[in-house]
Amino acid sequence: MLPVTLLQCRHLFQLQNSIVDYVASHDFRRATQSGCLRILDVGAGPAVASIGLTDMIDRTQGTSVSETTDGRESVHMTHILNDTSPVCLETGKRMLTAFLHDKEASNTGVLGHRILTLSTAFPGNMCQIRQLASLSGHFDLAILSYVIRPLADDGGLRNLVKTVRTLEPFCKPEGRVLLIQDKFREPLIRQLADMISVQYREQTLTQEIYPPRGSNEKSTYTYFDCLFSPRQAMRNRYELAA
Ligand SMILES: C[S@@+](CC[C@H](N)C(=O)[O-])C[C@H]1O[C@@H](n2cnc3c(N)ncnc32)[C@H](O)[C@@H]1O
Repeated sequence: MLPVTLLQCRHLFQLQNSIVDYVASHDFRRATQSGCLRILDVGAGPAVASIGLTDMIDRTQGTSVSETTDGRESVHMTHILNDTSPVCLETGKRMLTAFLHDKEASNTGVLGHRILTLSTAFPGNMCQIRQLASLSGHFDLAILSYVIRPLADDGGLRNLVKTVRTLEPFCKPEGRVLLIQDKFREPLIRQLADMISVQYREQTLTQEIYPPRGSNEKSTYTYFDCLFSPRQAMRNRYELAA
């Protein structure tokens, strides 16, 4: 059972929907070949995106993760949760720890984990992020789920673009950056994607509540995401500038 509320579930399923193709890809297989995965979750809130990713990795064990010496296919996960709210950070860490312990105890795809928390506001914490990337390894996935709006409101779109580009070199060549935002922010994610020189996608999901208690418990909604390879984004910009 996933330790999240109905609203958090929505963000969790969006994350899973957005990365499903990546998790099935050759790039992801290569990323996990070392047996370690490193995730940066900016504006993590209660770590819903990190829980969604862990759940997905756990379910795909045997297809995308590497084989350990004892023959099991498992991965060690390092999660870096960043949020300015101490309550969110504490709740996120507690929920993710409980979820990971559960997975490890059931002896499936997650072999071990480490959770680090950063309470300094992004992108003012870029020095810490750089240090973490150089000490414990570059990131396989950098997630900015529903945090683009406050970041753009605080620092402006151009600064946000600069910030996302600064993150790119801290990701592995086969890693990804994922941006997710609700349908009301389509212009924001479109401009952001254009300026980073990557594609963005409109995604549609249907959520159904079980057991059904009434006729209004199935809802279809739209959100926007942008999942890109930092290496490819840098290449795109270089080609555009040439
Ligand atoms: C709408 S919540 C999203 C939570 C989670 N990522 C999700 O998808 O459900 C936005 C979170 O970003 C955090 N936040 C806002 N500005 C931030 C900043 N500059 N640096 C780090 N976190 C920030 C807020 O405290 C809040 O927990």
